[in-house]
Amino acid sequence: MADATALLQLRGISKGFPGVKALSDVQLTIRRGEIHSLMGENGAGKSTLIKVLTGVYRRDGGEILLNGTSIDARSPEEAQRLGISTVYQEVNLIPHLSVAENICLGRQTTTLGFLKWKEIRQRAEKALARLGIEIDVTETVSNYSIAIQQLVAIARALDIDAKVLILDEPTSSLDEKEVEALFTVLRKLKAEGLGIVFVTHFLDQVYAVSDRITVLRNGTYVGEYEAALLPRLQLISKMMGKELSELEMKAADRVATKAGVTPFLKLKQVGRKGSLKPLDLEIAAGEIVGLSGLLGSGRTETARIVFGLDRADCGELQLDGKAISITSPRQASGLKFGFCPEDRKVQAIIPNLSVRENIVLALQANRGWMGYVSRPTQIQLADKFIKALNIKTPNPEQPIRLLSGGNQQKVILARWLASNPRLLILDEPTRGIDVGAKLEIEKLMAQLTGEGMAILFISSDLEETVRNSHRVVVLRDRQKVCELRGEEISEKNIMHAIAASDSDQ
Ligand SMILES: Nc1ncnc2c1ncn2[C@@H]1O[C@H](COP(=O)(O)OP(=O)(O)OP(=O)(O)O)[C@@H](O)[C@H]1O
Ligand SMILES: [Mg+2]
Repeated sequence: MADATALLQLRGISKGFPGVKALSDVQLTIRRGEIHSLMGENGAGKSTLIKVLTGVYRRDGGEILLNGTSIDARSPEEAQRLGISTVYQEVNLIPHLSVAENICLGRQTTTLGFLKWKEIRQRAEKALARLGIEIDVTETVSNYSIAIQQLVAIARALDIDAKVLILDEPTSSLDEKEVEALFTVLRKLKAEGLGIVFVTHFLDQVYAVSDRITVLRNGTYVGEYEAALLPRLQLISKMMGKELSELEMKAADRVATKAGVTPFLKLKQVGRKGSLKPLDLEIAAGEIVGLSGLLGSGRTETARIVFGLDRADCGELQLDGKAISITSPRQASGLKFGFCPEDRKVQAIIPNLSVRENIVLALQANRGWMGYVSRPTQIQLADKFIKALNIKTPNPEQPIRLLSGGNQQKVILARWLASNPRLLILDEPTRGIDVGAKLEIEKLMAQLTGEGMAILFISSDLEETVRNSHRVVVLRDRQKVCELRGEEISEKNIMHAIAASDSDQ
């Protein structure tokens, strides 16, 4: 039945890929003036549903109604003309063009074939002002942070008269303030009568803005709920298709590790002009050291120095009691250091290689070409990690680009875990990864540190940092502000350290 109050209605949608039934008989109803979260585990079919709606993929079956009229967009451009605007999981901007060009691309006003630059600039500025951002729109887009780039992508989607705005994990690179700014905009658009579809793995954000929630599991429709009437734990259990008691058992399963006592790596007043003030940091075998702080507080900068991506210009690094200088990632790899970077899409994925090849990559590079990892070992490793991290793929030979966003991230994480480093730096390893898989990753981290691996764990998720770290180093404004151990490790203490102004200390 057509729902008279619905702005947008998807009914009985199905979509298959070779070897994968991505969607079967899925429904989604968006009302005017609501924010509707689409939830589900990695690979549940969220992005596919959105791509079917916006004409990126042809659907195998089902019906889409906009204001009660059946529509069938054959391309994102056509969907946009119908009033359906999308910001995809991957930022889709053209890096070498200016912000203004990116916002107005394909919609420029011309006079006799000449671009009206002034008009384009003003239009871009207006679109950004709607998001509360003031930046130089003539600047090349790649010169801005990923966060700003994401907001530019949103501004671009908002440029036309959208009726429906779809945001597929728009906030994964944004800090708290930027997320709040975005939410303010979303609430305003909602009041203007837009229907907003929101996809994220951050549960706090879901509950902060959603009116209703639709849950998918394994390509099927689970249900539609009022956000206010669906407790968080119930949402998780609907996403995972498991009873709550099973989930609790999983968490308890995690092995409690005991940290080593003698640090093998020591940073003594190591710093770098302009990016990190001199700090001390130590890590022992079997230890997970959490690096906490806001985006831009110096967490990634610390990791980059340890991995030889940036050079320290003061202080001393000691490995096994001897002073060393780490001047390149290659050298760091030689020391059996691994680094799983935050910006995995850009830095890490080799799209056309298979899941198996992507997993063994770091191990192979470490061994050099003389130490070729045999095919049976490769297959064994791939199988092990596909299972351990619950990577959703029809088989290990699937090209990684065909996996869902979160599952691609799991593969990259598996790559570093498989290379069996002595020290592993994980920069936001669980971002974009669903709740169930987060627990799997934590379990694996505990197991590997139990076997002697040391992990430098960078995360914006305080709860996760507290749960996993033996020690927590807190950074603020590119400076270490404190170190917490044992009982001192709590969300409250970390938050306090992050928020305290210099005058409080
Ligand atoms: N082009 C494609 N070819 C083959 N399989 C695909 C393709 N696109 C998606 N899939 C598969 O369809 C399933 C659903 O993927 P989808 O990207 O919709 O998941 P998702 O819910 O968005 O997950 P995530 O939270 O990880 O982003 C996955 O198993 C994925 O591997
Ligand atoms: Mg997705």
